[in-house]
Amino acid sequence: MSNQNQTYITTPIYYVNDVAHIGHAYTTIIADTLARYSRMVGKDTYFLTGTDEHGQKIEESAKIRGKETQAYADEISATFKNLWDEFGISYDKFIRTTDSDHKKGVQKAFSKMFANGDVYKDRYKGHYCISCETFFPKTQLVDDEFCPECGKVTTVVEEESYFFRLSNYQDKLLKHYEDNPDAILPKSKRNEVIRFIEGGLNDLSITRTSFDWGVKLPDDMNDEKHVMYVWLDALMNYLTALGYGDDEKLIKFHPASIHLIGKDILRFHAIYWPAFLMSLDLPLPKHIGAHGWWTRNGEKMSKSKGNVINPREVADAYGLDNFRYFMLREVPFGGDGDFSQKALIDRINSDLGNDLGNLLNRLIGMSGKYFGGVVDSSNISKYFQDELDSVESSFKLLEPLLDELQIHRYLEELWRPLGVANKAIDYSQPWNLMKNGEEEKAMALNGLIANILAKVSIMLYPVMPQTSTKIASALNFEINNSSWQKLIIDNNLLDVFKLEKIAPLFPRIEEELLATKDIPKAEKKKKEVKKEESSKDEGIALITIDKFFETSLKLGTVIKAEEVKKSKKLLLLQVDIGEDEPRQVVAGIKEWYGVDDLLNTQVCVVANLKPAKLMGMKSEGMLLAVKDSSGLSLIRPESPKENGSSIG
Ligand code: MSP
Repeated sequence: MSNQNQTYITTPIYYVNDVAHIGHAYTTIIADTLARYSRMVGKDTYFLTGTDEHGQKIEESAKIRGKETQAYADEISATFKNLWDEFGISYDKFIRTTDSDHKKGVQKAFSKMFANGDVYKDRYKGHYCISCETFFPKTQLVDDEFCPECGKVTTVVEEESYFFRLSNYQDKLLKHYEDNPDAILPKSKRNEVIRFIEGGLNDLSITRTSFDWGVKLPDDMNDEKHVMYVWLDALMNYLTALGYGDDEKLIKFHPASIHLIGKDILRFHAIYWPAFLMSLDLPLPKHIGAHGWWTRNGEKMSKSKGNVINPREVADAYGLDNFRYFMLREVPFGGDGDFSQKALIDRINSDLGNDLGNLLNRLIGMSGKYFGGVVDSSNISKYFQDELDSVESSFKLLEPLLDELQIHRYLEELWRPLGVANKAIDYSQPWNLMKNGEEEKAMALNGLIANILAKVSIMLYPVMPQTSTKIASALNFEINNSSWQKLIIDNNLLDVFKLEKIAPLFPRIEEELLATKDIPKAEKKKKEVKKEESSKDEGIALITIDKFFETSLKLGTVIKAEEVKKSKKLLLLQVDIGEDEPRQVVAGIKEWYGVDDLLNTQVCVVANLKPAKLMGMKSEGMLLAVKDSSGLSLIRPESPKENGSSIG
C-alpha cells in the first residue's frame, strides 16, 4: 500500500458518448500538473486516466449513429487518447473499461462484496436518468419525471437487481469525514457530502437487466442476464488499473493520493467509492478534489447551443502552455469559471508577456550588451539581500498551496518574485550603473534576475512544461530533481553561465484568434433588447431575424416509429437530431403516414418547444408539415443532410 514517497493521481474516466471539451481538458491538465510536480520532487508517481465505455448511454449513442457499440467506443476512446498524447499529458496508464483485465477486477470485487454479505438480490422500481446514469427516488425528481441534475426526462425502470448495502456504511462514512477534514477539497464541499449522508443512504442498485452493454456478473453467480451498474464498473477502474484482480504488482499505489473530479460527480466518489472500498477492506483515498464547471461567456456549454469549446482549437490558436496557464490561473479550484478569449488574451499579454517574457528579454538584452551574455551570481547578496530574502519566503509558500489544490494562489505567489525582479531593474537603473562604473552591481542585478527566472521556471514547469524548459535552456540549466533540490530546497544560486538567446516567448496578441468570436456582454444585451422590442410590434407581427432564430429548427432522422394504440391520430417517434439521445416526438400524422413511411426518413423538428404530454406520453418537439384540402405533407429536405443541421 502507498507510502509518503508515492503519489497516485487520477482523472475521471471520460464517457465515450462524445469527444473531449475544455471541461475534460481542465481536469486532465490539473492532474498532469500535479503528476509532473510529484515526479520533479522525486516521488514515485502513478498518473491514471482513461475512458468509461459501458452503460445504456453509450449503447444508445452507438445505436443512434448506426455503429456497433465496441467499434464506436474504440473510435471515441482513441480521440481522447490522441488528444492527451498531442497535449503531452504525462499519464502512466490509459485505462478502458472494456479492457479484459478491468472486467476481471470488477467481477472479483463483486464476488467479494457478495461473499461478505454486502450484496443481495431484490427488485428495483424507480426512475433512472440515462444521461447521468443515475437512479433517483421520486422525491428528488422535478415535476415527478425530470432529472434533478440534467433536467432530461427520466425512464421508469422495474427490474430484478442486485443491491449493495450502502445503508450499512452511513455511520462509517460520517466518521471518516469527521476524522479527515481535508479528505474532500476544497474543504467547503465536505459539508455538502456530510449533509447528504446524514439525510440517509438507501441501498444501491448495482446491476441492470434491461440492456447488456456492461460487465457480466462472475460466472459462478450463474445469473447471466445481469450486467454491472456503470458506476460500480467505472469507479473500480482506480483499482483495476493497478492490477486488482489480475497482476497486482502496482497495487502498492493504492489508495489514491487524489482523485480529481468535477463537482457533478462528487457524490459517486465521496460516498459510493469509499463504501465499496470499505466493503473490499481496502484503505480510502486520501483526497478527492472537486473542481467547478466551465461556462462560455456566462452560459452553460452544450452541443445544441453550439458553444462548446474544443480544447485542441484553443491550444492551436493560443499555445498549449498558455492555455494551461490560463485555466489554472483564472479560476480558484472548486469555483466555476468562464471561458472567454478576452480573458485568455489578457492573461497572455499581461502575466506571461509583460511580467515573465519581458523580464527574460531584458536580461538577455542587458547581459548581452554589458557582459557578453555571461551571468555571475557571486555578488548578489552584497547588493540585493532583501530581494533574495523576499523571494525565498515566496517559494516556501508554494508547496502547501499545491497540496491544498489552490493552484491559482500558487501561480499568484509564483509571480511575486517576478515582480521583485522587475522592480529591481526599475530602481537600480542598470544603464546608469554602467555609466557610473558600478559594473559589479550591474552584474549582481543580472544575477538576481537570472536566479529568479531560474527558480520560477522550475516551479512553473508542472504548469507550463514547454515554456519552462525553454527558459531553463536560455539560462543553461535543466529542470530536474537535482536542480529543484539545489535552487528551491537548498536555496542555492546558479553557477556562472552564459545566456543563450531565445526567441520571445509570448508575442503580443492583438485580437481574438478563434473563429467563434466572443460576443461582448454589451452587444448581447443590445440583441436582447431588440428581441423584446420586436415582440411588441402590433398588427401583423413583423419579426426581426433574431426573433425568427429564437425557434430552433433542426433536421433529424426518424430512428424508431410506432403507432399509439387507442389513438386514431398519434404516432410515437424517436428522432435523432444530432444530440446525445434521440428526441421523443408524439405526432398527429397517423391519418397520412404509416410507420414504414417514416422509419429512416428525414424530418424537420421544432427543437426548443416546451415538452408537452399527449395521451400520457412526453413529446419533446414538433414536426413541420403543410396541410391543405388534399391532406398533410411533412416538410423534408430535397436531399439528405446531416442530423442536427439547423434549418433557416
Ligand atoms: N464517466 C464518468 C466518470 C467516471 S469516473 C469513475 C463521467 N464522465 S464525463 O465524461 O461525463 O465527465 C467527466 C468529467 O468532466 C467530470 O468530472 C465532469 O465534471 C467534467 N465536466 C463535464 N463538463 C464540464 C464543464 N463544462 N466544465 C468542467 N468540467 C466538466 O462523469
